[in-house]
Amino acid sequence: MNKFKRYTVTSALPYANGPVHIGHLAGVYVPADIYARYLRLKNQDVVFIGGSDEHGVPITLKARKEGVTPQQIVDRYHEIIKNSFKDFGISFDIYSRTSNKIHHQTASDFFTTLYNKGEFIEKTSMQFFDEAENQFLADRYIMGTCPKCGAEDAYGDQCEKCGSSLSAEELINPRSVISGNKPILKETKHWFLPLDKYESELKQWILKDHKDWKANVYGQCKSWLDSGLFPRAVTRDLDWGVKVPLEEAKDKVLYVWFDAPIGYISATRELTKDWEKYWKDKDTKLVHFIGKDNIVFHCIIFPSMLRHEGSYILPDNVPANEFLNLEGDKISTSRNWAVWLHEYLEEFPGQQDVLRYVLCSNAPETKDNDFTWKDFQTKNNSELVAIMGNFINRTMVLTHKYYNGIVPEPFKDTEYEKEIRSEIKRIKHSIEKNIENYKFREALKEVMNITRLGNKYLADTEPWKLIKTDEDRLKTVLYYSIQISAISAVLSEPFLPFTAEKLLKMLDIDKPEWDKAEDFDLIKSGHKLNSAELLFSLIEDDKIEIQIQKLLRSKEMNELEKKTVLPQKDTISYDDFIKQDIRISTILEAEKVPKADKLLKLLVDTGIDKRTIVSGIAKYYRPEEIIGKQVCVLVNLAPRNLRGIESNGMILMAEDKDGSLKFISPENACGNGSVIS
Ligand code: 2FM
Ligand code: ZN
Repeated sequence: MNKFKRYTVTSALPYANGPVHIGHLAGVYVPADIYARYLRLKNQDVVFIGGSDEHGVPITLKARKEGVTPQQIVDRYHEIIKNSFKDFGISFDIYSRTSNKIHHQTASDFFTTLYNKGEFIEKTSMQFFDEAENQFLADRYIMGTCPKCGAEDAYGDQCEKCGSSLSAEELINPRSVISGNKPILKETKHWFLPLDKYESELKQWILKDHKDWKANVYGQCKSWLDSGLFPRAVTRDLDWGVKVPLEEAKDKVLYVWFDAPIGYISATRELTKDWEKYWKDKDTKLVHFIGKDNIVFHCIIFPSMLRHEGSYILPDNVPANEFLNLEGDKISTSRNWAVWLHEYLEEFPGQQDVLRYVLCSNAPETKDNDFTWKDFQTKNNSELVAIMGNFINRTMVLTHKYYNGIVPEPFKDTEYEKEIRSEIKRIKHSIEKNIENYKFREALKEVMNITRLGNKYLADTEPWKLIKTDEDRLKTVLYYSIQISAISAVLSEPFLPFTAEKLLKMLDIDKPEWDKAEDFDLIKSGHKLNSAELLFSLIEDDKIEIQIQKLLRSKEMNELEKKTVLPQKDTISYDDFIKQDIRISTILEAEKVPKADKLLKLLVDTGIDKRTIVSGIAKYYRPEEIIGKQVCVLVNLAPRNLRGIESNGMILMAEDKDGSLKFISPENACGNGSVIS
């Protein structure tokens, strides 16, 4: 690892249009954080960069839908994401954002350098345009039928159903996402990065020089390179993003995938005046942690930008992970099929490390993997509690019981202690090797082997018997157990930082250096330990059941959403419409109709009069909760007799997709008798 003088570790910038979920964590942030924490413990010079990706069409679309500005959307989610990462212990040196001025300047300068070097191709072409909205339909502003799989909701850049990467012209029956209109084609000019020209240098750099990259990453790059690269547009006809720094392109912005990775550089500039050494010095190792959907951007496009800008280093590695599924189904924001980090932190306070542990031990390092709540519970109860928690607790309790918490003087090592020393050395070396090779699952298994070894040591030596038979031996065993506890605090820190901190506090020592965590003198004899606390606690079935029920509710909601909306009825004239006399009315009295489960008898003030209406809403509303409520009443409906009661009008109700009925009420109090038209 000493080939490099310093490390620049980046983690994909999440889009600031929604919170972070376990898929993001397992794929990117947990491994990146383990790596950065490890390097710091090894006293390496490291910057760990994160931030929000605040441009791109999904953000503007969300803003449109909510009737707010894109800036309001990104402000909202940037805060949520930033805080949840912090509370989860993701130890960024900086968590920045791409709407910052420094980022706009950096991205704009980057474009200008490439432009001045004549790297871009300028091309005028016909692109989809929404005439009614007076807007070009870039990327996700256009939808249509996927030419590959026939899905009707493919976007202009990608089909989410089959995963194909698309260009807008390929869509069948394209339509504008904003208005639903059929777009026209209109001429526009854009700037392209000539990836086709870079093909052979990329083949050399990736396929020959980087055979060391993970198989999934290398394989995806190879397939892109084998099928031939094409020029990629790096500008868009949009107004949200980094402005293209050209007089003739004042209404255009940089493509989000051009500006976002430059965000790593801007964030480093924001962090330190010394930023250049982290990006331009050949002694720096640049590592990008990303998910598999980002591979082409980080292995092909961004490195081409860096290389042709001329002054930057290229990534040494891009350890992309595959995807994490949830309970056997793809994680999806739109279907709310996710475990959201900010919700987890609220619902499992103080249990960050349990999730960190489960996500790392089950990380989708080589293939997609599944997160289940049952597995989460098992890994907590049978591994964290039963192995690590148990060993530490027994060591603490025994030391307090026999020696008032004072670390005893060891007597004489036996073969067993020698074996322990060499096994700990092996484990530590294996953790290092695995982390340095981005095999975090394997590394974590070895971390657990430390306390597994400790448990076996206690079971084999039986200190509770030694107290009566051989106190010298007892002292040696407890001394060694305490050293194993301290070693485990150091070596587990990158994975379980909250636990490590708690453990160090219990042992009452400062964090020892990583390289010392194979010496068996991290805590001296005579040192007094603090009182014992439980490192982990059992997670009971009811806690897990709540989470499973929450997911089931999402599933039910999704099923409901799938139910089709009734088709529109035949057209009527305005005269037909105004024949209906609908008035705002207040419910004055309500009571059940005897022997009729569905009916309530209401007395309503229509403004015109007070009248009785019988309504089939008893399943949805209790009489006492609706008194005083304002509703809409069709007052000129011919009277009807229901269960012997004359009903003079009809309360208008909305029938939801599940068949339930809901009142339609004015937003603010309204005079009774107000006409609805
Ligand atoms: O896929 C995503 O969530 C992107 N926002 C990742 C960007 S990574 C980097 F380039 F900024
Ligand atoms: Zn498709």
